Order: sequence, then structure tokens, then C-alpha cells
Amino acid sequence: MIRRVWSLLCHWRDVKTACSTLGYLYDAKSEALDALGGLTDEEIEAVCDWATENAGMTVVEVGTLFGLTARELDRKIVGGRVLAVDNFSWNPFGLPPNVHEAFTRRILSGTKVEIVNCSSEDWRTRVTGRIDMIFFDASHRYEDVKAECEWAKERGIANVCGHDYGNPNPRFGVTRAVDEVFGKENVEVVGMCWRVKP
Ligand SMILES: C[S@@+](CC[C@H](N)C(=O)[O-])C[C@H]1O[C@@H](n2cnc3c(N)ncnc32)[C@H](O)[C@@H]1O
Repeated sequence: MIRRVWSLLCHWRDVKTACSTLGYLYDAKSEALDALGGLTDEEIEAVCDWATENAGMTVVEVGTLFGLTARELDRKIVGGRVLAVDNFSWNPFGLPPNVHEAFTRRILSGTKVEIVNCSSEDWRTRVTGRIDMIFFDASHRYEDVKAECEWAKERGIANVCGHDYGNPNPRFGVTRAVDEVFGKENVEVVGMCWRVKP
């Protein structure tokens, strides 16, 4: 018992974060799913449909969380590669980054998804090779999404998509950034998933 209390005290910051996250999730009631940060079944299906199968195709998800969307993409992309880029800076349970990463690696074990522990910014400066499809769902700040979209456009990636288009959260700048870079008329939306029309 004393050891347990001692262990709680030693990890007090993590315990506090976990409790406040749980409190938030319980309070959020019907919005709890949004608070979990993932995609709905309908959105995952749309993203997988957008990932048309080409031999040797490379698909990248930037912001993978626990890998649930990456896992479905992996099922769809039979002959190619799936990269999951994440710096493990956020998760809805307040897990420390190393635990978050280990959990995601476990979910993706047995798949061919390659996890890249890196920020979107750093990864974009060093990535080489062809990318056939990119799905952005990391930072949702206007400046960050705009930089990602401009990079994807300059690089000529054929299939560019992402999440949280139309999200009413005032801290999310996805819609503005996507519309500015690609033009509203060129964007197709399913749920809150967006893609540049082919
Ligand atoms: C909303 S979740 C992604 C949900 C995931 N796409 C899915 O379908 O389940 C956002 C993820 O992006 C990661 N993230 C946030 N900012 C990032 C950044 N600048 N670079 C890389 N990953 C980032 C967080 O660690 C978190 O795992």
C-alpha cells in the first residue's frame, strides 16, 4: 500500500493529467468521440477509398495517434508502403510520449506500417522519394496546416487529403489553410475529411 502511494506521488504529474483528461471525457458526453481525436468509421472508409491501389504506392499519414487509420490504409495498400509520422506530442488520455509510442507500435505490429517518430516539420525537410498520397492530421493550427499544404502542392503529390475540415473548434485553422492553398472549389469533403479533387 505504502509503495502504491509512493508510486502515485512519484508520478503525480502524469496522474493529474490522466485524471483531468478522464474528467473531460466524461463531461464531454456526446462530444466524447470528438475528444478522442480519431476518425469516424465513415471517414476512415472515405480515406481508404481515396487511396487507390497502385503497384508500389507510398501512402503517408502525418499524425497517426494510435494508428487506427494507418492500420486500415495498410489493409488497402496491398503492394505498397504506409508511413505513419507522429511526434507523440498529444493523445486524449494524457499518456507520456514513450507510452503513447509503445502503445501505437503494439497496435500496428503485424502490419507493414512504418512508424516515424518525428515532427511533421522536421520530417518534411528530410523526406526523399515518391509519395503518392498524404493524409494530414497532426497539428491543426492554421500556420502549420498551411505549411503542410504548400509543401504538398510544391512537391506535386497527386493525392492530398486530411482531417478536421469544417471543425468548429476556433483553434483549428484547417479549413482556412486548405481553401487558401488549393481553392475551396477544388476540395471534396466527407464528414470532416477533405481531399483535393483528382
Ligand atoms: C488528431 S490525432 C491523429 C488521429 C489519427 N489520424 C487517426 O486517424 O486516428 C493527432 C496526432 O498528431 C500528432 N501531432 C501533433 N502535432 C504534431 C506535429 N507537429 N508533428 C507530428 N505529429 C504531431 C499527435 O501526437 C497526435 O498523435
